[in-house]
Amino acid sequence: MTAAAPSRVVVALDYPDAAPALAFVARIDPSRCALKVGKELFVAAGPDLVRALVARGYRVFVDLKFHDIPNTVAGACAAVTGQGAWMLNVHASGGFAMMAAARAAVDRAAAQAGRTAPLLIAVTVLTSLTAADLARIGVGADPQAHALLLARLARDAGLDGVVCSAREAPAIRRECGPTFQLVTPGIRPAGEPTQDQARVTTPEQAVAAGADWLVIGRPITGAADPVAALDAINAAVAATAGHRENA
Ligand code: C5P
Repeated sequence: MTAAAPSRVVVALDYPDAAPALAFVARIDPSRCALKVGKELFVAAGPDLVRALVARGYRVFVDLKFHDIPNTVAGACAAVTGQGAWMLNVHASGGFAMMAAARAAVDRAAAQAGRTAPLLIAVTVLTSLTAADLARIGVGADPQAHALLLARLARDAGLDGVVCSAREAPAIRRECGPTFQLVTPGIRPAGEPTQDQARVTTPEQAVAAGADWLVIGRPITGAADPVAALDAINAAVAATAGHRENA
């Protein structure tokens, strides 16, 4: 990675409304991280907040994990594309036809808006789920095998990458190639509580495993000094990424 490469850190703005999200954003700049607007904040603050963050120059990941019939998901993806998102996602378990419809809708909406299509990513197996959780919803495979199966399906449907645990990243990288984008939540700096996440790694382990983008929420937003926490993670990630690319 060159010095000018964007930060791999995507801060999950999991706040109840726009005010605390904007207070955090006021203390940083777009070179320090991308921003993720997920269900909590999107339901509270909506597309206006997404547009406001895009207007300030941020790469914005709209993390709404769509999972519905193809026509509905296609319409939702087109709307998010129109808001200027840098990245958006659907659940791979929505199936091949749903993902293919999302792909076509994103490309069409981006072309109509005269902009590059955002990264369209599929969620494989949530990082909060264990093998026992999967068994209870009728999935007999272990999380790694199931994530790999869903990643192949996403690749075949033309998606740009997947959300997965960094623990599954090496196998997915081998299978899906060097340009397939690997987005990894479930990141916890050494010694921090895992909370509701199950399949966690440190930021350094995630980068070493081949993650392109590290989604990190509470270790930054819940820190006594969120900006200092972000800076420390950026430094650790940059150092590990430098080692990986020089190896
Ligand atoms: O606070 P924490 O770092 O656990 O936040 C992780 C973020 O990543 C949350 O916003 C969550 O919705 C999101 N996410 C996840 N697991 C996935 C996909 C997204 O934790 N598989």
